[in-house]
Amino acid sequence: MRPDVAAFDAFAPLYDLLMPATDRTALRKGLFCADREVDRCVEVGGGSGRAAREVGAAVVDPAGGMLRRARRRGLETVRGTAETLPLADDSVDAVLVVDALHHFADHDAALAEAARVLAPGGVVVVREFDRSTRRGQLLAAGERLIGFDSRFLTAAELETAVAAAGLDARPVEYGFGMTVAGVKEKE
Ligand SMILES: C[S@@+](CC[C@H](N)C(=O)[O-])C[C@H]1O[C@@H](n2cnc3c(N)ncnc32)[C@H](O)[C@@H]1O
Repeated sequence: MRPDVAAFDAFAPLYDLLMPATDRTALRKGLFCADREVDRCVEVGGGSGRAAREVGAAVVDPAGGMLRRARRRGLETVRGTAETLPLADDSVDAVLVVDALHHFADHDAALAEAARVLAPGGVVVVREFDRSTRRGQLLAAGERLIGFDSRFLTAAELETAVAAAGLDARPVEYGFGMTVAGVKEKE
């Protein structure tokens, strides 16, 4: 298990107590970018389901401790990693990645996998922290200090990465907390 995942596995019982509430409005703005109805939604790196429960998403995560918390919330869970999603091609309408991309081993592989599992017109919504902001720099330094292997992007880098996955990148929100949507072209 990679060190970041092992840390979340161990930290799961305390996670929800220490984390601030999810910005539901930002997620909904991202989901509105979809060019199809959003029924089937999955959160990759969804952890304890803190964000997934806001929009009724299923949770994919490699940390068993986090998945147990998500199940207690009544959410559907699947154990797996973002870089090799255990989901069929074109099988979901929306993929959320909330406060998690910076922990993934391979951003590009994760976004390519999100694009693969999306149905045409579906949307990936990435909520992250912009490392070019002052608070982003402090957060990156803090996570390094506590031993995380985090790699934060700037807004421009995130948009480029979403576009490189073959998605139509649509910035939703800029700032320390940023949101970028990527829509899969309809056939
Ligand atoms: C900061 S938590 C965010 C959890 C949730 N999205 C939220 O907003 O509360 C990051 C999550 O990413 C997961 N994670 C780390 N590496 C991963 C990977 N390669 N694929 C999928 N999830 C991963 C961790 O296990 C952890 O649950």
